[in-house]
Amino acid sequence: MRYLLAPSLLAADFARLGDEISRIASEVDLLHLDIMDGHFVPNLSFGPPVVEAIRDRTGLPFDCHLMVTNPEALVEPLRAAGANLITVHIEAVPDPTSLADTVRAAGLRFGVVLSPGTPWYAAEPFAELCDLLVVMSVEPGFGGQDFLPEVLPKIELARKWVDSHGLATDIEVDGGVTEATARSARDAGANVFVAGTSVFRSPDPAAAARRLRDVIEGRG
Ligand code: DX5
Ligand code: ZN
Repeated sequence: MRYLLAPSLLAADFARLGDEISRIASEVDLLHLDIMDGHFVPNLSFGPPVVEAIRDRTGLPFDCHLMVTNPEALVEPLRAAGANLITVHIEAVPDPTSLADTVRAAGLRFGVVLSPGTPWYAAEPFAELCDLLVVMSVEPGFGGQDFLPEVLPKIELARKWVDSHGLATDIEVDGGVTEATARSARDAGANVFVAGTSVFRSPDPAAAARRLRDVIEGRG
């Protein structure tokens, strides 16, 4: 199993995004970009112009988490801005079949995200369309919240589904990931770990990323 660390830029200092990325780039595998529309979630973050502005700062793949009501409209702008992976909420797009095709046709990888209250069975019929299944462990919209352990059984269900189908679909956990909570998410079956606050709000983000990597790779 490959274990990947994906810091969320939402917790970085927005006044100096390029430098924040440079500080951690060599320690991590993906950059998680939380895109919000102020409608699907009660917060606004950033969109394609910011994604484009940071694209030349790193070769890391951009994992774009769309917390928006109409993700379809963002596929082409995000592709043009340099996105590599687009994930959409199953609550916003209950049948993502055609959207998955659109994202793939644009040359990007595709995934679905489940908010904490959404059961695994809402995503299961579409799991085969996905490169990545995302289980949120906080309510979407804001960084810095506490990890919700009640989502761990959902991670277990997703892992059982992936393994029983003989697939290599990644299972990402997003929200409140720290050294302590990463361990339980790993035990439940997650292999991609989004961490905003615990990386970027740490006094030494690169060291924090290295410590998290030890945990997610089973050494912590
Ligand atoms: C919440 C976002 C998460 C979150 C991660 O809406 O999807 O990616 O910002 O940040 P922390 O690690 O602070 O929960
Ligand atoms: Zn996210």
